[in-house]
Amino acid sequence: MSSEHGDRVPIDAQSVDAPLSRFAIFLVVTIAPDADSLATVRETVSGIDDLVKTVGFRDLGGHLSCVVGIGRLLWDRLSPGIRPAELEVFPTVRGDVHTAPSTPGDLLFHIRADRVDLCFELERLLLDALGSAARVADETSGFRYFDVRDLLGFVDGTANPIGGDLADATVIGDEDPHFAGGSYVVAQKYLHDLDRWASLTVEEQEAVIGRRKSDNVELDDSVEDQKAHKTLTTITDDDGDEIDILRDNMPFGRPGAGEFGTYFIGYSARLWVTMRMIENMFIGDPPGFYDKILDVSTAATGSTFFVPSNPVLQALGDPDDLSELLGARDEAEGTAGASAAQEAERGGSLGIGSLRAAALDDASNDGSAAGGTEGT
Ligand code: HEM
Repeated sequence: MSSEHGDRVPIDAQSVDAPLSRFAIFLVVTIAPDADSLATVRETVSGIDDLVKTVGFRDLGGHLSCVVGIGRLLWDRLSPGIRPAELEVFPTVRGDVHTAPSTPGDLLFHIRADRVDLCFELERLLLDALGSAARVADETSGFRYFDVRDLLGFVDGTANPIGGDLADATVIGDEDPHFAGGSYVVAQKYLHDLDRWASLTVEEQEAVIGRRKSDNVELDDSVEDQKAHKTLTTITDDDGDEIDILRDNMPFGRPGAGEFGTYFIGYSARLWVTMRMIENMFIGDPPGFYDKILDVSTAATGSTFFVPSNPVLQALGDPDDLSELLGARDEAEGTAGASAAQEAERGGSLGIGSLRAAALDDASNDGSAAGGTEGT
């Protein structure tokens, strides 16, 4: 999703595929219910490109990038007529022993750079622009830890897709033409019990993760019911091919406060894939044989977001622009764009809801994808 000129001026908004950075800030905010606040959001998110340039241009070598994700409830306020096909509120996933909670989040800002001051400055300006419209639900500053290790001591991110597979895994395509070029992102903040983890032998830890700790070599899949983390999070299609997601987890912590964690962030063209991974982790596969990583990792937050492509993000600034853009995509697809535009004129709203009304009704407040999950 990066601009094709990214090599010359490596500053970009909505670059899901931004290179691994040394620092990141994960900022989740909720938006006040009034119309003025919504107008402020429109202005801020549609102008994010400029804000990223304002900060990033001060050190191009810092590789500042920012991805904006929009939660389902805010999306419905910004674009009442039409919604990305899979966008849902993160459903609480309840296993026998561990629960993945669903926590509020209207906007996610995933800010990455190789300089912590660039991340800080962009966050400061963003929050300044949002003003009283936004309330911070969570703010986590992550850092790269040695050779891309998490605080459990394992190299984290190895199985990420690369090359052409990266776009296939993360970018929505023809299956949802209005939102092609976008992505879904799931964010969860995990807190670790490092003392308990340290009480396991290295072999036991390796069996939990599914890789060798020292040199990162992958272990064979277990034939037992109790599977390793890497096996529980491997999802295959009907042909047995793996369906990847892109993770950019970051360690965070405050040793003085006894806080140690992993901020999980996963981008995918198919939200259900990431959710299936979380179900496998918490409920288990087979059920009951949950991911033992959870005995030392407590999920403190959980939210899902849609990441619009840059053109859609910019069009969110003005409902007419959005209507025009999505209508144009209708025409390109040979669908009911003209009648939708007429409807918009008549109704004064985006009016493209007729295209999706049935789907939206079906999906409304029905976040559950499998047993053990519940919409919130
Ligand atoms: C406490 C939080 C987590 C930690 C510390 C963690 C750590 C790791 C580590 C060390 C690996 C092996 C190396 C690698 O391939 O990256 C891994 C693999 C993986 N994790 Fe996690 N993870 C966490 C949460 C999650 C969550 C919530 C998901 C999915 C929603 C997930 C999805 C995956 C996937 C897809 C793989 C690659 C599996 C494969 O080999 O194909 N992880 N994780």
